[in-house]
Amino acid sequence: MIGIIGAMEVEVQGILEQMTDKTTRTIGGLDFHEGKIGGAPVVVVKCGIGKVNAAHCASILVTSFDVAGVINTGVAGGINPHVNIGDVAISNDLVQHDVEATEFGYVTGQVPGLASPYFAACKELIEKAKTAAKDALPEGKKWHVGRIATGDQFIASRRAKDAIWESHVPLCTEMEGAAIAQVCMLTATPFVAIRAISDKADGTAHEDFPTFMEETAVTSAKLVMGMVGE
Ligand code: ADE
Repeated sequence: MIGIIGAMEVEVQGILEQMTDKTTRTIGGLDFHEGKIGGAPVVVVKCGIGKVNAAHCASILVTSFDVAGVINTGVAGGINPHVNIGDVAISNDLVQHDVEATEFGYVTGQVPGLASPYFAACKELIEKAKTAAKDALPEGKKWHVGRIATGDQFIASRRAKDAIWESHVPLCTEMEGAAIAQVCMLTATPFVAIRAISDKADGTAHEDFPTFMEETAVTSAKLVMGMVGE
């Protein structure tokens, strides 16, 4: 079974609508929906926004369900100048851009005690995402494989965006992926994040995010359904 996590209703709604044989178990205040997509067993859950919600959810998902892999679906703010609204980022690795323990000799983003600030995504899931992207992307939109930077901040200024770019050179930024990646690393669960770009994480983000959130969330969900269907 594959576990699918989205932070917001709009990020999981399309998947829940396509699911058959649906049953729901509520654990830790979260509704875990088990069922099938294209004949393949999945469990789909809305975790809420931010790293704590995401880690809480991922932890329950990997310990209470027999998941062979976890996919995080949703939207993100573009950081790399070559990434445009409507494009899709497939995580090669993920980092928490708001972790700072450099005072103790760690590099920026590195959680004390861990060997690297970067959590590698599963190669097999990346390949599945690349294949599914061919059918899921709207005309003229591109997919990219690269780094995703996560933090408990909605990035909406040139200054904040540039700081993340200079530290980690990611494709995009969002608020859950690396937290889920860390839980998956701790539990040896294969993981990938799929994020469609809803805004450019700068001074235009407050307008673009509400405008493009829905259609880009649907793009990401469509790609994820293409990955899991048999
Ligand atoms: N998700 C979508 N856009 C975002 C942004 N600009 N910052 C953080 N998370 C996001």
